[in-house]
Amino acid sequence: TKALQVAIDGPASAGKSTVAKLVAKKFGYVYCDTGAMYRAITLAALQDKIILTDSEAVTKLAQKTKISFKPGDPVQQVFIGTQNITDAIRQPDITNNVSTVAAIASVRTELVNQQRQIADKGNIVMDGRDIGTTVLPHAGVKIFLVASAHERAVRRYKENIAKGINTPLDQLQAEIELRDKKDSTRAVSPLTQAADAQLLDTTSLSIDEVVNKISEIITKKQ
Ligand code: C5P
Repeated sequence: TKALQVAIDGPASAGKSTVAKLVAKKFGYVYCDTGAMYRAITLAALQDKIILTDSEAVTKLAQKTKISFKPGDPVQQVFIGTQNITDAIRQPDITNNVSTVAAIASVRTELVNQQRQIADKGNIVMDGRDIGTTVLPHAGVKIFLVASAHERAVRRYKENIAKGINTPLDQLQAEIELRDKKDSTRAVSPLTQAADAQLLDTTSLSIDEVVNKISEIITKKQ
């Protein structure tokens, strides 16, 4: 049977990666967190003291940086070469700078190619901003996951506290809204719902409820 591609897109902190990871595990599919890849390039650029608006330098970096994933609980581990960057890419300085890197067209070309190669291996769940519109436009399942900005800020706040990051709730909400604005208004592959994607509002749903809804949709397609 043909491989099934599951594309999960949506704004920041809508629960995409949590849900995508659980769905992938449930069906035995590969999981690809594309946001982690943009974050990895942002981290590498900051470590190399490259100016993030220097498109040429950041693109060269994206082309030579070897990003890899290793399945793990509760989070998938992310590496650059042998350096484990799982925690480093979730720090606020990366979160607040990643949209600048993600707006560079030639960085996107490179990472989209890598993402398609990962998807070529078989059944896949991929989450991001442009999966249903650009990376996997023929995906058999497309979900656009949303939640209110307040609910997303509360979720991120709780996650942060568990990690020892103490950003105030209203600051988090403002940062989330600013990142969504940047991601939605950039020229190349902006965050937008694909015409054939199903909208899923998770504001008042638990993680399990979201996983179950997506699982039903996948089961019908298999
Ligand atoms: O999903 P996550 O919040 O980790 O994504 C971090 C950032 O990476 C997004 O805010 C966006 O700027 C960028 N991104 C993107 N396209 C994707 C995935 C993420 O532009 N497919």
